[in-house]
Amino acid sequence: MQLSPAQLQPILDEIAARARATEDKGRVADYIPELAGVDPDQFAVAVAMPGKPILIAGDAHKPFSIQSVSKVFTLALALGKVGDQLWQRVGREPSGQAFDSVVLLEQEKGRPRNPFINAGAIVTTDTILDGSTPRETLGALLRFIRAAANDDNIHYNESVAQSEIATGHRNFALAHYLLSHGNLANAPELTLGTYFHQCAIEMTCAQLANAGLFLVGGPEAPRMVSDDRIRRINALMMTCGHYDGSGDYAYRVGLPGKSGVGGGILTIVPGIASVAVWSPGLNRYGNSKLGTEAMQMLAENTGWSVF
Ligand code: DON
Repeated sequence: MQLSPAQLQPILDEIAARARATEDKGRVADYIPELAGVDPDQFAVAVAMPGKPILIAGDAHKPFSIQSVSKVFTLALALGKVGDQLWQRVGREPSGQAFDSVVLLEQEKGRPRNPFINAGAIVTTDTILDGSTPRETLGALLRFIRAAANDDNIHYNESVAQSEIATGHRNFALAHYLLSHGNLANAPELTLGTYFHQCAIEMTCAQLANAGLFLVGGPEAPRMVSDDRIRRINALMMTCGHYDGSGDYAYRVGLPGKSGVGGGILTIVPGIASVAVWSPGLNRYGNSKLGTEAMQMLAENTGWSVF
């Protein structure tokens, strides 16, 4: 259903007010000091609709660490670079496991279940790194995101990246395991250096909602990938974008979404809007607690759903 800005704005204001009033805001990620120190009382929502002015409520111009939301953009780049060959190295099934789990990687001989769990994202980043330096690859990724958001003021936070490198033992284990199965083309340090920097990109909710417009489709949305790819990326977001909480997100929100441990969620309303929410406190799956509740409320109040 298409809603006018005048109909949507009060809904967003109500969602932000409810989020602020909610006592249980979840638990902020604490594996690195840069995330552990983020104020849990912040909340933002932004709705970008092709050809219309962006609508916001809350702290929508405050940058946050996009973390795993970046995996949507690397997937789009990887599909553009190697096309369907990506699926020889990564699957397209939900894993039912935590985002950093190693268990299936051993059982399935080094082929990660999907491009959004860490193992699959590391392979996806390895694909776009192939033949170039981490600096060039990050440059290409930032160019893609800036073009998608139509905003050049998007950067990565070097201190977050260095903390990720210092604490990322599981990701190093995953990368070495992938290498042992011949599913890593570059040195683990290079692929992970790129991966940790992509996770350390900071964006505001307004920038993230704008950056998701290329996945909305339709005549007025920016065209950065083909319609076919838009459908496929959205399908993967719906089935795998929230790890072992993907079924719950689909049940509650009914829209394709991708979460990050920084508390951001990008959700696509096909043909209508790109929505970003941010609340740093996480639920037990490592996805934004209030962000999920806010998206459920938005879906219920707008009727937006793919079902
Ligand atoms: O790989 C990691 O551990 C983090 N840099 C990103 C993980 C993440 O965002 C998981 N999502 N909820």
